[in-house]
Amino acid sequence: MRALLLFTFLIPISFSLKCVKIFLTPEVHFHAENNCRAISGTLVTIKNAIDNRAILNLASSAGISTMSLGLYCFGNNTSGCFWDDGSGSPISYNNFQTSNQFDKTGRGVVMSVSNTFGTNQGKWLSVNCYDGVNTFSSYPYMCETPPTQPMSGCKHNYNGYCYTTSKQIGNQKYDGNFAKTFNWIDGTTWDFHYMNPLNFQKGKCLVMDLENYGLWSQVDCDQKMEFLCKRKILADTAPTKKSYEAPGILLDASNCNSTLYLVPGSISSYGYPDFTTPPTYCSWRLVALGPYRMGIYFDFWATYSALTIYDEYGTDIGQFVGTYNRTPFARYTPFNMATITFRPKSGPNVDRGFHAVVLPL
Ligand SMILES: *[C@@H]1O[C@H](CO)[C@@H](O)[C@H](O)[C@H]1NC(C)=O
Ligand SMILES: *[C@@H]1O[C@H](CO)[C@@H](O)[C@H](O)[C@H]1NC(C)=O
Ligand SMILES: *[C@@H]1O[C@H](CO)[C@@H](O)[C@H](O)[C@H]1NC(C)=O
Repeated sequence: MRALLLFTFLIPISFSLKCVKIFLTPEVHFHAENNCRAISGTLVTIKNAIDNRAILNLASSAGISTMSLGLYCFGNNTSGCFWDDGSGSPISYNNFQTSNQFDKTGRGVVMSVSNTFGTNQGKWLSVNCYDGVNTFSSYPYMCETPPTQPMSGCKHNYNGYCYTTSKQIGNQKYDGNFAKTFNWIDGTTWDFHYMNPLNFQKGKCLVMDLENYGLWSQVDCDQKMEFLCKRKILADTAPTKKSYEAPGILLDASNCNSTLYLVPGSISSYGYPDFTTPPTYCSWRLVALGPYRMGIYFDFWATYSALTIYDEYGTDIGQFVGTYNRTPFARYTPFNMATITFRPKSGPNVDRGFHAVVLPL
């Protein structure tokens, strides 16, 4: 698919900088987000009225009439919508058309740039942008990335840092032996990880598996690996991301019967790991932000109960029943939503339930 890369602007917006790129070739939300990911960004996000005006003006001058935003709505009001960049719901600022019908019209969100829907310019509307068949559901879009300061000779320039690969350095391999616990060696707080739930090795160093969604695994530090070096180019330009709490009420650790569970997280049979709890019916509606698929990693299974995974269209994408013991396994969803049901069945063994980690991929 030919993506038309038209402009690159650097717009200073209220305390933060971001770069945006406009793509005129219409795409469905999922593919648009993947194209943004390929340039280390997300679909454009809008957090205040000044941004909304600036983005509207840029889109308008590029000749766009309707444009996708990096916002996805799982519920029937703004608190069920989430920005693709992980910054939460558009509660403090949004510009939805007052008559907007969230779940009735669709889950994607577009900005009306030139009045196409008979709305005021700059208003937001729910649309069915998810259906890869219907061409009407494709829109031009804008990606945003962190600011990138040109630096001569820097091949891998991202978010204020220049990265150098071990191949560039001359094929040396770093033989680690530095990590005693999981601490970043530059002192950065360990506040995020992307560990492969089905990796049970015990080494003290971590590697990223580029052939498995970039998941991290523990390895022996004596293993020689390719590596990336990271060097700062700019003083703090990256906007600090606000953390936010996943929506919904506090559930028990099983997250049983959650109607909107934002992953990453985990699910299990009710009562797990207390194996004296009798098996109980549970269902889960899992959602991932933006373009992400989900990996559902079952790291424990000792039950005869029936577990079924459905994608967002209700298609059965995995059914597990009748085998008491299963070695750890994974299922992947085609898009960013899934429903799981767990129906108790009694068997000859004591039912001990299951546990799974769910990650956005
Ligand atoms: C808004 O949506 C959330 C999430 O879907 C739901 O829990 C809540 O009840 C809704 N609020 C109203 C006023 O409809
Ligand atoms: C929105 O959804 C919630 C549950 O998800 C429901 O309780 C509420 O009545 C709905 N509101 C409207 C206006 O449809
Ligand atoms: C989950 O919901 C189902 C049906 O609504 C109910 O029968 C079941 O007891 C609930 N499970 C738990 C653990 O509350």
